[in-house]
Amino acid sequence: MEKFVINGGKQLNGKVRISGAKNAAVAILPAVLLTDETCIIENLPEISDVGAILRVIRELGADVRYINKDTVEINCKNVNTHIVTKQMAENMRASSYFLGALLGRMNKARVAPPGGCDFGVRPIDQHIKGFEALGAKMSFESGMVDGKAFALQGASIYLDVVSVGATVNIMLAAVKAQGLTVIENAAKEPHIVDLANFLNSMGANIMGAGTGVIKIRGVESLHGTTYSIIPDQIEAGTYMTAVVATGGNVVIDNVIPKHLESISAKLKEIGAVIEEDDESLRVIMNNRPSKCNVKTMPHPGFPTDMQPQIATLLTVANGTSIVTEGVWDNRFRYVEQLTLMGADIQVDGKSAIITGVEKLKASPVKAVDLRAGAAMIIAGLMADGITEVEDIIYIDRGYENVVEKFTALGADIKRVSVIEPETVKLKEA
Ligand code: EPZ
Repeated sequence: MEKFVINGGKQLNGKVRISGAKNAAVAILPAVLLTDETCIIENLPEISDVGAILRVIRELGADVRYINKDTVEINCKNVNTHIVTKQMAENMRASSYFLGALLGRMNKARVAPPGGCDFGVRPIDQHIKGFEALGAKMSFESGMVDGKAFALQGASIYLDVVSVGATVNIMLAAVKAQGLTVIENAAKEPHIVDLANFLNSMGANIMGAGTGVIKIRGVESLHGTTYSIIPDQIEAGTYMTAVVATGGNVVIDNVIPKHLESISAKLKEIGAVIEEDDESLRVIMNNRPSKCNVKTMPHPGFPTDMQPQIATLLTVANGTSIVTEGVWDNRFRYVEQLTLMGADIQVDGKSAIITGVEKLKASPVKAVDLRAGAAMIIAGLMADGITEVEDIIYIDRGYENVVEKFTALGADIKRVSVIEPETVKLKEA
């Protein structure tokens, strides 16, 4: 076990380079199963969720070879199983993408139910609805999600709720189905567009990704490709929010500013100066944050994956802010940790009412999930004194080299091993 030890109260200055997007990578990697030719994926982030997906692909029988630290070469011609067990899935949400990829590859799939961060219920009914519309027979057998089809046929699918995962999974299953598939009320996130571009680079025929209506004309086969993952807009937004929270002047490098529009708009409302360039932006903050109301929505709305981070920033804003969670049932579990640091937050259903205080107080806190963990780092950077963040395994799922990147910006943050109580007892014995 490890924790972060943060000696906060320092401004952030300098330059940080953003890594490849986690949620694009975990959707694109399973897609390599749709061809027996070699795929080279570049700009992969060095995070545990990517490592876990690559382990599943290797355990299915593929050849997986790192060409360098962020580029992997994969060939799936020897993949001859359609089963992803619970052990293989490692409680990841993205393991559900092997349903679409394996159905698309071999008309059958058996995958352990997906895990992922705990925001309340995380159903996959829209994924199942999509697969059944394409002609697959879906069932739950001995705790596994099972799908099989004689052949997949194109279909029109209206998503009852905008779902990133269902949009991804239906695209993966439909690219080689016979005929036209239309996904309506589709997710528009940048990682949906990145997956469509990746599949089209393999010879797929996908139009409309990034809009609410995606059209997929099935093709006989897909070929190998070389493709570079887009930069991670949530990682970028996290560093942008950290600078606004501590004050300072930082260049966020290797970004697509258009993907950050809603985040930049909110941070400007809060008082930041943001200067955009083609592939970078500069964030400057020299005063106390102003109060601001935020409602998270599917893209192009303010991203739910930035909700804990901006709420943390608003705990020291001048006035009262309301943060409303428009995507998940319960994404405020981290609030309890912020109150340990002196934040004044009242959660009322899907809204958090945040009354700004002068300063947060350093305190031991826990990362309750991936983005909440990132928010605890921001809180520690804001507070004077030593804040320890435990359960950082969540943070390592989605943030590459987070200690090195923040240290380069002037933060005092260290990764420290936590001695497990039982090992201490052994020593006493
Ligand atoms: C993806 O999760 C992301 N994960 C999440 O990011 C992100 O919070 C979420 O999209 C929304 O943007 C990955 O991409 C790996 P959804 P996903 O299906 O696909 C409901 C992070 O921090 N729903 O878009 O699981 C669902 O309950 C992670 O990187 C159904 O009702 O999210 C939720 O209320 C955390 N039925 C809403 O839709 C379904 O079949 C959006 O979920 C599917 C979803």
